[in-house]
Amino acid sequence: MKIFLDTADFKAIETWKETGLIDGVTTNPTHLSKAKGDPTKLVQAIAKALPKGVISVEVTEKKPDAVYKQAKAIAKLGKNIVIKIPCHADYYGIIAKLIKDGVKLNITLVFSLVQALLMSKLGVQYISPFVGRWDDIDVEGVELLYNIRHMLDEYGYQTQLLAASIRGVRHFHEAIMAGADVITVPVEILEKASRHVLTDQGIEKFDADWKKIGIRKFP
Ligand code: G3P
Repeated sequence: MKIFLDTADFKAIETWKETGLIDGVTTNPTHLSKAKGDPTKLVQAIAKALPKGVISVEVTEKKPDAVYKQAKAIAKLGKNIVIKIPCHADYYGIIAKLIKDGVKLNITLVFSLVQALLMSKLGVQYISPFVGRWDDIDVEGVELLYNIRHMLDEYGYQTQLLAASIRGVRHFHEAIMAGADVITVPVEILEKASRHVLTDQGIEKFDADWKKIGIRKFP
């Protein structure tokens, strides 16, 4: 399973890069709006910081022709950049065109199994179902992950299932169980997920027991 960081926080990306656990980054207009400075330079810096990673960058234009042009321009910012396009019917034509042009796509704001099938049929690299936003309106979001996994395997599509809009460690657990190819995790959730209270307690107990025998060379 690949793990992406769902952020445009460069410092956090640099920190997590050191762990060797991060396979990429997903940004969106909200993330970029929180970061200071020029978004183009930031995207370039992120792409450079993780040269072997996959960096998703979302279009901000609205009209299909403008989205198409912007997607091509963003893709030129780095070889490892994947373009995020919302799963909207107005964009299906340009999504097909961009695939033909060889632009790698991550289709975002996916909320239904049918949307996921349509995008997989077109041959996009990633589909991003938004788990947390379903939960926000009292619908079990993770079910969509299980259903999409089944659909992809059933029809043999190559599109990767990218679990997005992750709100807690439980979502991480469910994404693993559902067989997501990728999960994109906010920094604070990855921090939480990477620790376990019983591990901390276990380390303390081993340490206390070891200290009981006094300082000894080992080995
Ligand atoms: O990056 C897209 C997605 O993960 C955003 O999640 O928390 O804004 O629903 P959220």
